[in-house]
Amino acid sequence: MNIASRRNFLVKLGAVGSLSFLSNLSRGNNQIDSIISAKAEKSEDELVTDETFWYQIKMAFSVSPTLINLNNGGVSPQPKVVQDAVERYNKLSNETPSFYMWRTLDDGREPLRRKLAELAGCSPDNLAIMRNSSEALENIIFGITLQRGDEVVLSKQDYPNMINAWKQREHREGIVLKWISLDLPTTDEDYLYRSYTQAFTNKTKVVHITHLINWCGQIVPTQKIAIEARSKGILSVIDGAHSFAHIEYNIPDLEGDFYGTSLHKWLCAPFGSGLLYVKKDKISSLYPLMAAGDPVSSDIRKFENLGTRSFAIEQAIGQAIDFHYMIGGSLKQKRLEYLKQYWCNKLKKLNGVSIHTPLDPKFSCAIANFKIANMETHAISSELLSKYKVHTVSIVWDNIDSVRVTPNVYTTTRDLDVFIQAVEKMVASKS
Ligand SMILES: Cc1ncc(COP(=O)(O)O)c(C=O)c1O
Repeated sequence: MNIASRRNFLVKLGAVGSLSFLSNLSRGNNQIDSIISAKAEKSEDELVTDETFWYQIKMAFSVSPTLINLNNGGVSPQPKVVQDAVERYNKLSNETPSFYMWRTLDDGREPLRRKLAELAGCSPDNLAIMRNSSEALENIIFGITLQRGDEVVLSKQDYPNMINAWKQREHREGIVLKWISLDLPTTDEDYLYRSYTQAFTNKTKVVHITHLINWCGQIVPTQKIAIEARSKGILSVIDGAHSFAHIEYNIPDLEGDFYGTSLHKWLCAPFGSGLLYVKKDKISSLYPLMAAGDPVSSDIRKFENLGTRSFAIEQAIGQAIDFHYMIGGSLKQKRLEYLKQYWCNKLKKLNGVSIHTPLDPKFSCAIANFKIANMETHAISSELLSKYKVHTVSIVWDNIDSVRVTPNVYTTTRDLDVFIQAVEKMVASKS
């Protein structure tokens, strides 16, 4: 790629002045150079359906060429630049751990916090670097001061670790959990909003909202609920495990007081990486899960007293952010939306196949579920794997019973065609 087209690409990205991330990412890497060239030459709308471009993205990963992974909702693979960085930083750490980890790599934490904050659209003073969503959200759930009888509104469709954390507080401290159950899928925003807000009473102190529900990809109108909660003096906790770096938004725009996410899901960062966001005026009153010298400090770093952990994993989050910027959040979201529409629109035409996620981009993005009539959910995903080597996941949780399909940026329409043809054969064999 010549300097002029690289510069042009950066202008489009609005990233001139921060050239270093690209030179760092593409140094001696032909694959990355081709992706950057393609981005410089085509518009976003052209790229969404440009399979050659997405093949190049696929080649930047090391995913199996024989097992088609449509369970990126669980955890994502890392691009090779991220894998290489983890290995490099780990090797460096092993040369003299106390020196390279604590004096060299640790120096990267504040620049990384700033980089994450830019991506999250907030101040670095609001972000703590965590190992996953569970750790971030349990800092919140166990850190809020509540009295016996105080009520927390949450949903049966929230994530089990978070449900268990709230149940532990109920068991130990006598707080009261007010359960709602969402009838999904839905495109009725008012229904979702009312499901939460009608459960508010004058004893409600917290509402726990899963922004993008992992079981079926439903997007919840989190901002509206959080605004209503604030007007009643209720704190909102947002589980952003599945929405961060998947759909585009700035964390503060969700209007929550507290937010947690994993970075090893949609950011494709190293396994065991996440972040915690706390609104500035709520930091001092939130107690850290791992004790700090001053537990009521208003410094977000009080949540990072984790003891010795992998600095290689933490620092390689930086390469994952660069990779994300290289594709661009907006293009990524459009491509993921396109892939969902691609397979859902083909499958929904088949007799006996139903789609269990709203196709409207306002209510879902990459994650969608389907079901074949007269077939157990588990049997569908088992047959897809054993006969066709397509890896999906069967979801049987509360009132949700369907197969979840989650492509990622390295998924091509050719991969989806293999999956679609497999379902066609399964349906044909049932009739
Ligand atoms: C909605 C939601 N919250 C929290 C988590 C926990 O994420 P982690 O395992 O990275 O802690 C998940 C994991 O899938 C999830 O889907």
